[in-house]
Amino acid sequence: MDQNELKKAAGKRAVSFVREGKVLGVGTGSTVDFFIDALAESGIRVPACVSSSVRSTAHLEKLGFKVVDPNEVEGIEVYVDGADQIDPGFCMIKGGGGALTREKILASLAREYVCIADASKRVPVLGSFPLPVEVIPMAVGVVSRTLRSLGGNPVLRDFTTDNGCKILDVAGLRITDPVKLESEINQIPGVVTVGLFAHRGADVLLLATEEGVKELRPARG
Ligand code: A5P
Repeated sequence: MDQNELKKAAGKRAVSFVREGKVLGVGTGSTVDFFIDALAESGIRVPACVSSSVRSTAHLEKLGFKVVDPNEVEGIEVYVDGADQIDPGFCMIKGGGGALTREKILASLAREYVCIADASKRVPVLGSFPLPVEVIPMAVGVVSRTLRSLGGNPVLRDFTTDNGCKILDVAGLRITDPVKLESEINQIPGVVTVGLFAHRGADVLLLATEEGVKELRPARG
């Protein structure tokens, strides 16, 4: 199976986690696009969705789903989103699609975070995928210098986020303590969001492999 077929399988499986009658959180990316298509085909009815990007909002609305502002909901029952990398503790690197800030807000609102991914996303240690950091434009220089002092190699992405900000993709990190690094980078003035989802990782991972979609949960303890 190629990577797209695996992504499609993960997206399709996530439909079984959607609670009919409850507000649904929807992330961003190609795996999520497959999930949205499968949800529409399933005929499951949700009263409304909250979305993490302009891209997903357009896709949802095109297929007839109602999309509301997160300020209109007090919580989300289930949030379905992809990841760029996920480690054994279900900490993630996200933001390859540039939607990390809205994704983190929706993750914080969610009772259950369902991560959908193909097998290539699962790694023993995060960092071989460059870590996205969303930054206020006037702080790109100073934040880059601070990230370099932490051992990273930040590269400015040719992209403006849905929030009007810039993204630094930080290569060269080997993230053995994602919770600590998330806190450290969050403290840098000018950083809007770091694409490390460690304080609030995923609750369930639907990992699409050649042997089928595995439903995995992190070992807590
Ligand atoms: C979007 O900003 C990211 O966090 C995505 O979740 C991530 O890039 C996964 O994308 P794909 O599903 O396209 O691999």
